[in-house]
Amino acid sequence: MAESRLILALDVYERERALEIARETADYLWAIKVNWPLIIGSGLDIIPELKEETGLPVIADLKLADIPNTNRLIAGKVFEAGADYIIAHGFVGSDSVEAVMELGKTIIVVEMSHPGAREFIQPVTDRLIELANRLEPFGVIAPATRPERVAYIRSKLKPGIKILTPGVGAQGGKAGEVLKAGADYIIVGRSIYASDNPRESARQIYEEVRAWS
Ligand code: XMP
Repeated sequence: MAESRLILALDVYERERALEIARETADYLWAIKVNWPLIIGSGLDIIPELKEETGLPVIADLKLADIPNTNRLIAGKVFEAGADYIIAHGFVGSDSVEAVMELGKTIIVVEMSHPGAREFIQPVTDRLIELANRLEPFGVIAPATRPERVAYIRSKLKPGIKILTPGVGAQGGKAGEVLKAGADYIIVGRSIYASDNPRESARQIYEEVRAWS
């Protein structure tokens, strides 16, 4: 099977359910993203458990946005638990982001997918892209709900920095459009984990992504 470009946003609380959905969908995924709902519901041990169950990388979507010392304290424990990547906010400044990057692979939020992102984040996206170009993280987060913004971010971003896009499915984004705009990976949550058949939903999105690869 071709390498997947699909990331599952596993936003459920319960450990058993998370592991079951991960097992069912793993064949179609590049990585699994865990966010606060799952970490709060099941504890940090869910990270090594998901890795052992699926063999896939785990992205910890903590959206870290604190002073360097606190970012470092949090990121240290989460990388130690086995996370392969951590998502951090860029708007708190380069020292806060660097504190995470010193410990492991980091993904910086440069724009968000919800309507409210237009209020405060979008006006500073250019500066967040500059920050990413200077620090050269593994990747940045850009909104699948606005393919034209993904294309803009791609045009300004250094080659080699990956673009990961949440917002496909439940938030209205279309996989084909964002991949065409320059996204490297798409992140899908509810359209997979809340469907009656998560494996089949993941397979359909995987096929759609593959058609664009
Ligand atoms: P759904 O259910 O909408 O889940 O497919 C999307 C997942 O991605 C997260 N998310 C974002 N993370 N910037 C981010 O860093 C964003 O713009 C963004 N939009 C959605 C969301 O928390 C969920 O885990």
